[in-house]
Amino acid sequence: MAIWNLGSINADMVYALPHLPAPGETLAATDLQQFLGGKGANMSVAAARAGSHVCHIGAVGADGVWAVDRLMEYGVDTRHIAETVTPTGHAIIAVDRQAENQIILFPGANREISTDQLGQALTQAESGDILILQNETNMQAEAAKMGRDLGLRVCYAAAPFDATAVQSVLPFLDLLFLNEVEAQQLQQATGKTPMELGVADVIITLGAKGARHFCAETGEIQDFPAHTVTAVDTTGAGDTFTGYVLSGLDRSLPMPQAMALAARAAALMVTRPGTADVIPDLKEVQEASF
Ligand code: RIB
Repeated sequence: MAIWNLGSINADMVYALPHLPAPGETLAATDLQQFLGGKGANMSVAAARAGSHVCHIGAVGADGVWAVDRLMEYGVDTRHIAETVTPTGHAIIAVDRQAENQIILFPGANREISTDQLGQALTQAESGDILILQNETNMQAEAAKMGRDLGLRVCYAAAPFDATAVQSVLPFLDLLFLNEVEAQQLQQATGKTPMELGVADVIITLGAKGARHFCAETGEIQDFPAHTVTAVDTTGAGDTFTGYVLSGLDRSLPMPQAMALAARAAALMVTRPGTADVIPDLKEVQEASF
């Protein structure tokens, strides 16, 4: 089976700072590094490193050839990434000494994906394949509907959170990923608990407290603890978790095993500064001693 990812591709400019800047403050960074990033690219790399065949659907500008090359080096199928006249998306990421971050996003080419491009990609998907979307590209609702019509398992990571964006894909979803704050915001917007959303599986990540799975079919709620590590950078940890859960499901692992593996991957990820380039592979995740 395969994972199809309609996902963002960004150049991540990561600035190390003594603290996150306050409004009006000018602050000198102590370090600057560039990584491959974007929630989409991070999830594609995580799922590929976890052992899945991942086809990325996305767009970059002429300045983003390096990003596509890097995705390919990391084992992602890049045949459905278009080149647009709009420049590649980028993110300005501030990381402080407590591993907290603040992100400014320039969407760029990520919002220039065409209907034709999406259709050409998804018609090659097979029933039972996974489709994952996040809120950093255009075409989310179109892809979700197309995915449902084609018999794909449609998954959505509701980040960056926008209540209207989630609600436009909700009727087509099989699996929804939210963090704790996003889950509260969605409940406020819909008046529904995770169990009442009409989505078969809902996963809420709880940061250092772990993650919670809501199974609508059985009504069961299961908690998965996080591993205790010293975090240096939490950027991309949620994307790593999502990519590993999807890969586990793609490789027919039951949800508890997929989530336990993803918790290990995310724990390892927060000990590393950076995004897609430093996502751990399956061997590292399995061998990590927590
Ligand atoms: O989730 C982390 C990601 O958010 C970064 O890689 C950045 O590009 C933004 O999309």
